[in-house]
Amino acid sequence: MAGQQFGDYQNEIYFDGLFGVQPTLPMTFADLETRARAALSPSVWSYVAGGAGDERTQRANVSAFEGWGLVPRMMVGARQRDLTVDLFGLRLPSPLFLAPIGVIGLCAQDGHGDLAAARAAARTGVPMVASTLSVDPMEQVADRLGDTPGLFQLYTPTDRALAESLVRRAEAAGFRGIVITLDTWLTGWRPRDLATGNFPQLRGHALANYTSDPVFRARLAKTPEEDPRAAVLEWAGVFGNPLTWDDLPWLRSLTDLPLVLKGICHPEDVRRARDGGVDAVYCSNHGGRQADGGLPALDALPGVVEAADGLPVLFDSGVRTGADVVKALALGATAVGVGRPYAYGLALGGEDGVVHVLRSLLAEADLLMAVDGYPALADLRADGALRRL
Ligand code: FNR
Repeated sequence: MAGQQFGDYQNEIYFDGLFGVQPTLPMTFADLETRARAALSPSVWSYVAGGAGDERTQRANVSAFEGWGLVPRMMVGARQRDLTVDLFGLRLPSPLFLAPIGVIGLCAQDGHGDLAAARAAARTGVPMVASTLSVDPMEQVADRLGDTPGLFQLYTPTDRALAESLVRRAEAAGFRGIVITLDTWLTGWRPRDLATGNFPQLRGHALANYTSDPVFRARLAKTPEEDPRAAVLEWAGVFGNPLTWDDLPWLRSLTDLPLVLKGICHPEDVRRARDGGVDAVYCSNHGGRQADGGLPALDALPGVVEAADGLPVLFDSGVRTGADVVKALALGATAVGVGRPYAYGLALGGEDGVVHVLRSLLAEADLLMAVDGYPALADLRADGALRRL
């Protein structure tokens, strides 16, 4: 089956232009970023845009894409492009997904960005990985996803019963996989947020999955409604579990849903994950938010793909354009995560803003595959499609 033609989005924009209707949302990432900065409060802006240390890794994630170029092929007649992918049995219309963003809720003008992002996923068919840290509980997020699959991202708490409860709820809510984030059992050194002493969760934001959880509530002397401050302190005490590979059998035993480990960049870690029976690995350095001085995630991707040996590889960190999406796919990613760009789209245009960002990324990727003569994802992965500059 030929995939949807995402490039058609440009026709809509040009035809609107014939009637004097100009796009209200930005067409470049630079514009998106500039306008989102003006739309967000300084504290939310600093939390979303900032990263660890001097933010070198964060910048390197983005510039790493400039180190690769696609080689154009002619007379391929790539009239139809097929961007569909199979991800552990999920047939997806495109390889794009929404990376988990805790506090995405706060990026929306109405404070319910988790729900808006889920509605955007429903409209575009782009799956959402819903963060543990959300303003609205996961059941409500799942409810807004429509027919689009969602995955639940778990920050594994130290209380195993709480971890299990969160996973059971994700299963019951209809999420189609569990993504366990490994690189954030504590927070990396983030100068921008430190400069204003600002950490949203400690101010009680985005904790709905905890405060609505029966196991979490049972840990409290008073309900979170009666004593919100005690609930926050309890959360801070239980949030981060410094997992080891010895915990993997337990994590695997938590669910029969597909299990994905996020934050994997070393081939040896890929092998251990494979041996532990995971269904996919997720190559990411958390957008440079956790550790500075590291390799760009894109540079880790080829080694991860090789070690994965056919196991699906999700990827994010630094994806800003459709060309970036295509390059990550050509380097072997099965699916590519969008992070900050959709937070900015949300800040500017709510649900419509996220839809615009996703459709723009997909349109550019699709048109690039048309122009450069790579009609299917398999063509992109063939030898010689991508060269180091
Ligand atoms: C994140 N990320 C993240 N990851 C995760 O597993 N759980 C989470 O709750 C969050 N929260 C979060 C908040 C904010 C504000 C950002 C920007 C990111 C990391 C996210 O999933 C992804 O790895 C990065 O966003 C990728 O980097 P870029 O492309 O956004 O720079």
